[in-house]
Amino acid sequence: MTSLSAVIPVAGLGTRSLPASKSVPKEMLPVFDRPIIQYIVEEAVTSGAKNIVLVTSRGKSIIEDHFDIAPDLEATLKRANKNDLYKLVHDLSRMTAVQTVRQKEALGLGHAVWMAKNLIQTSPFGVMLGDDLVEAKVPGLQQLLEKSKSLKKDVSEIGVVMLTEVPDSEVSKYGICELDPKEPGRILRCIEKPKPSDTKSRSAILGRYLLPRDIFEILEKQKPGNLGEIQLTDALNVLAEQGRLYGCYLQGLRFDAGDRLGFLRANLHYYLKSPLKSDVQNLLKEFMA
Ligand code: G1P
Repeated sequence: MTSLSAVIPVAGLGTRSLPASKSVPKEMLPVFDRPIIQYIVEEAVTSGAKNIVLVTSRGKSIIEDHFDIAPDLEATLKRANKNDLYKLVHDLSRMTAVQTVRQKEALGLGHAVWMAKNLIQTSPFGVMLGDDLVEAKVPGLQQLLEKSKSLKKDVSEIGVVMLTEVPDSEVSKYGICELDPKEPGRILRCIEKPKPSDTKSRSAILGRYLLPRDIFEILEKQKPGNLGEIQLTDALNVLAEQGRLYGCYLQGLRFDAGDRLGFLRANLHYYLKSPLKSDVQNLLKEFMA
């Protein structure tokens, strides 16, 4: 592996966040002081990713703009001696190189990842989903890298996915992995959004993956699965069958920013971590009364 790349699919329609996401991409909705996508890109960068590929679709170009240089804004802030704001805007656009590729049709998450194939030269590479905000001492993607290295295998040949335990009521919202009772961490089977009665496992895939580059060849051959879409989980299942897929349980917090309550939880969490903490606590007390 030379340097790490990360693919961030942002082509989805964001139906769970409507009407807010009708003309503003859901990835641009703010959690505390920055759009959701910035948390994801920052996690990629702190995990060591040098090359970030956004898989976009129509109406999503403001996501790219967010990471681009804004000369007028920078000049204005500099002239006004607003140095903190200048630094914030300057550093954001220099944080990383962001490339984009368009997914013209919504053919599924697996298809979106496959679209990035020509821009990814490294193995393994990361895939990060925008709905899942991970707040942890060790950044989410880095946790996968550390797990991968600890397995004493050829890291360029194996996949590692981030897992968390979910209650029965949430099984059908996720890709679920069945783990090998004999080899800790090894995944035997992955099923996309099963019924709770279809599997005994409650280990759900969160939106962080570290994948070998040949996943693109596997995706290329993938037939439509759940909802008639090309599912990433089905390609992961091929890796599992080949004995090349491992799970890593998240050490930290995760927020489902695509869900109303998850979005509120994420906002409360980051507001309460900010200098506004005591003001927010007072506000909450006021509302409770
Ligand atoms: C996707 C994946 C699913 C995974 C989930 C994590 O589902 O298909 O396997 O568990 O992300 O958030 P989506 O949330 O796009 O329906």
